[in-house]
Amino acid sequence: MKNPITTPWEVSGDIDYDKLIKEFGAERVKPTHINPKAHHFIKREFYFSQRDFDSWVKAAESKKKVSILTGRGSSEKMHLGHLVPFVLAKHFQDKYKCNVYLPISDDEKFYVKPNLSFEDAEKYADDNILDILALGFKPGKTFVLKDLSYPIYPSAARVAKLISYSTAKAVFGLKPETNIGWSFYPAVQTAHILLPQFIEGKHHTLVPIGIDQDPYVRLARDVAQHSTLNFIKPATIHSKFLPSLKGEAKMSSSDAEGVNVIYLSDSPTEVKNKINKYAFSGGKDTLEEHRKHGGNPEIDISFQYLKYLFEEDDKKLAKIEADYKSGKMTTGELKAYTIDKINSFLKKHQENKKKIKSQVGKFMLKF
Ligand code: TRP
Repeated sequence: MKNPITTPWEVSGDIDYDKLIKEFGAERVKPTHINPKAHHFIKREFYFSQRDFDSWVKAAESKKKVSILTGRGSSEKMHLGHLVPFVLAKHFQDKYKCNVYLPISDDEKFYVKPNLSFEDAEKYADDNILDILALGFKPGKTFVLKDLSYPIYPSAARVAKLISYSTAKAVFGLKPETNIGWSFYPAVQTAHILLPQFIEGKHHTLVPIGIDQDPYVRLARDVAQHSTLNFIKPATIHSKFLPSLKGEAKMSSSDAEGVNVIYLSDSPTEVKNKINKYAFSGGKDTLEEHRKHGGNPEIDISFQYLKYLFEEDDKKLAKIEADYKSGKMTTGELKAYTIDKINSFLKKHQENKKKIKSQVGKFMLKF
């Protein structure tokens, strides 16, 4: 077993999600959250950990002002795994008609990626914004900002004064050779998390994020109630990672030539070839054996993508699981079904992305 690493800038090895909950001092999503009406991300424990989620839901249900905040570090074109927090943010916006703030940390990626130029950081930010807005966020209630063009500095300064260097170093593992932009960045993302309250005053904010981003939420919660701010500690709900095609813990483009991830811009043929060639299968080697012993959906990447993203219908998912386990459904059939689901999602996504291009101005946070 490889030594697992989970920091905002590196995720590798075999991740023990229960251990992370303990280490980070969070709590598992509760049985009351996993009710049949919950979003399938929560019901199926893709979002598995939380802090103060109940308080946020309670405030939302009693019609108090609530908001949602989640962001994107734009260093490349987006893949399926990147969409996860935004899908949940959009779901809660529809459900509770609340404001959603979407900071894009083009500065972060410029500092952290040695080969990313300033110009490319900007280019990816603009492209990624289209992918995020293509999910259908509501204009007038959705506010996008880019660190390199929105004045985040006043909020970041107020936060930065409350965070000691030793805390930042301990929480983020900053190394002495880290450039000073990178070492300041934690103040910026902490400011993002508190931005809804900087702008709209004290209220409940929910931050849906991958668990690797939790250090920022911890910092934000630490400083929120300081007398100079007097905010409510932001609530959070943490997702697991979407596995890569080969079955590594996190879909990531850094270690492969695009064959381990499905990009939002992939064509139907690319998706078909990637799933058929690379998606790790829990099926048996020969059809005869498969029919006899059945496959293992738990390690099957096509099944995982259906479970976490593309098959919202519980009954259909249960039938696929049972049929695959019994050997009635073959790996070929499971893959064909998954390819179809992904391609119909991407077709609509790519159309929406084109349509939203002329609307982006409506979504940029004004200052
Ligand atoms: N750092 C995040 C990433 O790399 C992106 C991000 C920026 C973010 N600001 C945020 C995430 C605020 C959650 C909340 O993906």
